[in-house]
Amino acid sequence: MKKDNSYYDLQVKDEYYTPALLVEIILPYLKLNSTIWCPFDTQQSEFVKVFEANGHTALSTHIWKGLDFFKFQPHRFDYVISNPPFSSKNEVMERLLGIGKPFAMLLNLQCLNYVGLKKIVRDNGIQLLVPDKNVSYDGKKSPPFTSVFFCYKMLPAEMVHVIVRHKNTGKNFEPSAMYNLDLKY
Ligand SMILES: C[S@@+](CC[C@H](N)C(=O)[O-])C[C@H]1O[C@@H](n2cnc3c(N)ncnc32)[C@H](O)[C@@H]1O
Repeated sequence: MKKDNSYYDLQVKDEYYTPALLVEIILPYLKLNSTIWCPFDTQQSEFVKVFEANGHTALSTHIWKGLDFFKFQPHRFDYVISNPPFSSKNEVMERLLGIGKPFAMLLNLQCLNYVGLKKIVRDNGIQLLVPDKNVSYDGKKSPPFTSVFFCYKMLPAEMVHVIVRHKNTGKNFEPSAMYNLDLKY
């Protein structure tokens, strides 16, 4: 029987898109009417949609629009929040720490298995926002890992546990609108 590697692939590839229910868990930790830079997102991103629907301003930038996170940053923003490309997670964290603004990056908890990221977390007081369920990105099955927000200067404690609405599988599946690649550009 063919081994199902879909969730291994999901961790390796950079093109997977976050469902709204995972974005919602960061909302309680934002100041009212904030300006949030979403640097790996288009207007179709659920980060952008959820933040705008909750009274915040979302500044979305994406490599597809010629705006490379490593070369560009907006003039003014209060937070940087997104799900970054897994393949450059350490470089993303290092650049964000250099910028110095509060941030929340969604990564899988298994990232802590990597010595490099573990050191970044330990040396910089990175905080973890941990959902109670392993949320699916494709609606098919609950993955073998938890998606966690790795936060900087955002949470009241080093680790905060939160309840997420459901696992995003089967009839509960709420796909990100970013999967609609017709709306990519
Ligand atoms: C894991 S996906 C998440 C997308 C979106 N943030 C979400 O959560 O639905 C990461 C995205 O970052 C984009 N990306 C990769 N490198 C980038 C860069 N240097 N600057 C901006 N975007 C980049 C990828 O093309 C991909 O669409």
